[in-house]
Amino acid sequence: MGDSKVLEIPQVTSHNESSDPRLILLLLIKMINKSRGKILGVLALFLVMVWYSIYREDSFYFPVQENNKTTCPLGEVEKKAAQLIGNYTRDHPLFLQLKDYFWVKTPSLYELPYGTKGSEDVLLHLLSITHHSLPESIQSLKCRRCAVVGNGPRLRNSSMGDTINSYDVVIRLNNAPVHGYEQDVGTKTTMRLFYPESAHFDPRAENNPDTLLVLVPFKPSDFQWMEAILNDKKRVRKGFWKQPPLIWDAKPEQVRVLNPYYMEVTAAKLLNLPMKQPRKVKQKPTTGLLAITLALHFCDLVHIAGFGYPDSANKKQTIHYYEQITLKSMAGSEHNVSHEAVAIKRMLELGLVKNLTYF
Ligand SMILES: *[C@@H]1O[C@H](CO)[C@@H](O)[C@H](O)[C@H]1NC(C)=O
Ligand SMILES: *[C@@H]1O[C@H](CO)[C@@H](O)[C@H](O)[C@H]1NC(C)=O
Ligand SMILES: *[C@@H]1O[C@H](CO)[C@@H](O)[C@H](O)[C@H]1NC(C)=O
Ligand SMILES: *[C@@H]1O[C@H](CO)[C@@H](O)[C@H](O)[C@H]1NC(C)=O
Ligand SMILES: *[C@@H]1O[C@H](CO)[C@@H](O)[C@H](O)[C@H]1NC(C)=O
Repeated sequence: MGDSKVLEIPQVTSHNESSDPRLILLLLIKMINKSRGKILGVLALFLVMVWYSIYREDSFYFPVQENNKTTCPLGEVEKKAAQLIGNYTRDHPLFLQLKDYFWVKTPSLYELPYGTKGSEDVLLHLLSITHHSLPESIQSLKCRRCAVVGNGPRLRNSSMGDTINSYDVVIRLNNAPVHGYEQDVGTKTTMRLFYPESAHFDPRAENNPDTLLVLVPFKPSDFQWMEAILNDKKRVRKGFWKQPPLIWDAKPEQVRVLNPYYMEVTAAKLLNLPMKQPRKVKQKPTTGLLAITLALHFCDLVHIAGFGYPDSANKKQTIHYYEQITLKSMAGSEHNVSHEAVAIKRMLELGLVKNLTYF
C-alpha cells in the first residue's frame, strides 16, 4: 500500500506545479505520523526533495535558454560544414605554436597567406614570445556559442549590443571600435582578428583586458612588425600598404598568430580560388570571411552580425558602421566582395550560420 503512494507522488504533482510542494509535505507528514509508514515516509521525503530540486532548476534555467534561443545544437555545425567544405576537419590548431617550428619542422605547402613556407625563421622569433593556447574559459565551455561581428553599416542604430554580449565567444575584426558604439555592437571581445595595416592604434581602448589579439599574417613583414613591437626592437617601416602602428600597447600573452590553414580553407574551399595565382589576378579573402571560417572550426553555433556589402552599383552607401567610406575604397584591395557574398549566402541557406542583423 505504502509503495503505491510513494510512486504516485511525483506523478500527481507534476500536473499541477505551483501549489504542489506544500501539499506533498502535508501528505508526507500524515504518512510519517502513521507509525508503520515511518521509514517509507522518510524515503518519500528524500525522493520528493530530489525531485523538487530538479523541478526548481528546470523552471529557473529554462526561460533563460528560451531567451537566448540557444539549446546547444551539438554537432550540427560540423555536419553542415562538412557539406560545404571538402575534407572538413577540426584537427588543425587555431594558432601557430613554437614547437612546430622548433622541435619538429612542419613543412608547409604554401607561402603566406596560405602557409608559412619561407617564413619559418622570423616566425620562430615571434612564437617564442607569444602564446598559442585557447584560454581555459573557452576550452571548458560545454557549448561554444559564437557571434562573428562584421563591420557593416547595418549595425548602426541596431541596438544589438546586449544580444552580441550574450554570446560565449564574440569575434571582432580589424580596427572596428566598441567605444561609443556599445548599444549597437556590444562591449565583449573574445577575439579580434587583425593584420598590421588594420590594427587599431589603441588596442586597450577597444578590447577587453583578456581579448585574444589574433594576428592574421598576409606577408612575412607582418611577423616582423609584431615581433619588433612586442620585443621593442627597431620598427619595420617598409612593406606595408598603409602605415601600421609603431607603438602598440598589448601584452605578448594576449597575442596569437592565426594558423594560415584557415586562410587556405577560406580561399580554396569557400571561394574556390586557385592556391597558386598568377601575379596579376591576386585575390584574397577578407578578414570577415576568414573569421566565419575560423568560427566554423571551433564553435557549436555560429551567428553573424554586420555582414553584407551594398550593391556594387550603390556608390553612396557606406561600408562600415564607424566611418564614412564607400566601396570605392576597396577597389585596390584584392578582395572580391560579391564573390564572398555568394559564399556567405550559401552558408545562410544551409543553416550553417544565422544572420543576426535581420530586422
Ligand atoms: C581531400 O583530401 C584528399 C586526400 O588528401 C584529396 O585528394 C582531395 O582532393 C581532397 N578534397 C578536397 C575537396 O579538398
Ligand atoms: C540613428 O539614430 C539617431 C538618433 O535616433 C539618428 O539621429 C540617426 O540618424 C540614426 N542613424 C541612422 C544611420 O539611422
Ligand atoms: C545567454 O546565455 C549566456 C550563457 O550562455 C548568459 O551569460 C547570458 O546572460 C544569456 N543572455 C540572455 C540575453 O539571456
Ligand atoms: C568577383 O566575383 C564575381 C562573382 O563570383 C565574378 O562574377 C567577378 O568576375 C569577380 N570579379 C573579379 C574582379 O574577379
Ligand atoms: C543580414 O540581414 C540584413 C538585414 O536584412 C541585410 O542587410 C544583410 O545584407 C544580411 N547579411 C547577409 C550576409 O546576408
